[in-house]
Amino acid sequence: MAEHTAPTGWTEEASQAFIDDGAVFVPSRDEQIATLVRLIPARADEVFAVVELGAGAGVLARAVLEAFPRCRYVALDGSAAMRARLTEALARYQARVEVGAFELVERRWRAALPSPLRCVLASLVVHHLSGAGKRRLFADLARRLEPGGALLLADVVEPTGPAAREAFALQWDDAARAQSLALTGGLTAFERFTRDGWNFYRGTPDPYDQPSRLDEQLRWLREAGFATVDCFWMRAGHAVFGAWRPRHGPQTPNARRVPAKPGRASKPGRASKPGRASTTSRRGR
Ligand SMILES: C[S@@+](CC[C@H](N)C(=O)[O-])C[C@H]1O[C@@H](n2cnc3c(N)ncnc32)[C@H](O)[C@@H]1O
Repeated sequence: MAEHTAPTGWTEEASQAFIDDGAVFVPSRDEQIATLVRLIPARADEVFAVVELGAGAGVLARAVLEAFPRCRYVALDGSAAMRARLTEALARYQARVEVGAFELVERRWRAALPSPLRCVLASLVVHHLSGAGKRRLFADLARRLEPGGALLLADVVEPTGPAAREAFALQWDDAARAQSLALTGGLTAFERFTRDGWNFYRGTPDPYDQPSRLDEQLRWLREAGFATVDCFWMRAGHAVFGAWRPRHGPQTPNARRVPAKPGRASKPGRASKPGRASTTSRRGR
């Protein structure tokens, strides 16, 4: 993949701040990571490929590589500082890891992803794309993932109105303050969070931050052809949500499924459990 300098909008200074203070700035990061890891559609002993977009300092990557000791992991990031950090953080998994450069908005890297591809992960990066950019990304990744494969996201979302914005802003400040105290024993990291405007829901947002509403993103995922789409965790405007490709051939969103038991009607569009085979339909998909 082509070498990139720091992506437009995201600076190497921001990378360093995130490396230093990410654990304080991201609300309940361990919970978000544990939720993502549990949603990966694979057995612990399986050999499969995972790609992470905007892998940052490798916190999620380490958790996945530990939980799935035979997976192959491609960790992409646009920042040289982050890639250096990633390479260092993932050194002990070196044989299974490839660290690469990419620019999120471009499309060439999408065509070069490994195949078969079981899972694409992205934490706190897709909100840097516009709404149209997210839709294109979801559609491109739906085409690249193997049947039963998943796109799993953790990201900030646009509030639906002022009440949600205020709730998210308060919750995020509370989380960052509590984490600053718990993890560093003081409020200096929280002061950096406030001073440098990391709370997207306060003040004038950086134009490079373009979160979309959660309901819109779930709809775009369905439109991209994913069969099972849901949100699994949310706090302080941060949502963990995901989408699974159908296991058997093309499937239109909201397609009827065969009843699970004779005589019991299935609901249109009812989702199968993540990572499980979907019920075979009458139409022989
Ligand atoms: C907020 S950090 C999140 C890092 C990591 N995913 C995490 O959750 O800890 C955003 C990451 O996305 C990368 N990034 C931001 N914009 C990008 C772009 N346009 N192309 C590629 N990488 C980008 C940054 O370098 C950074 O590592």
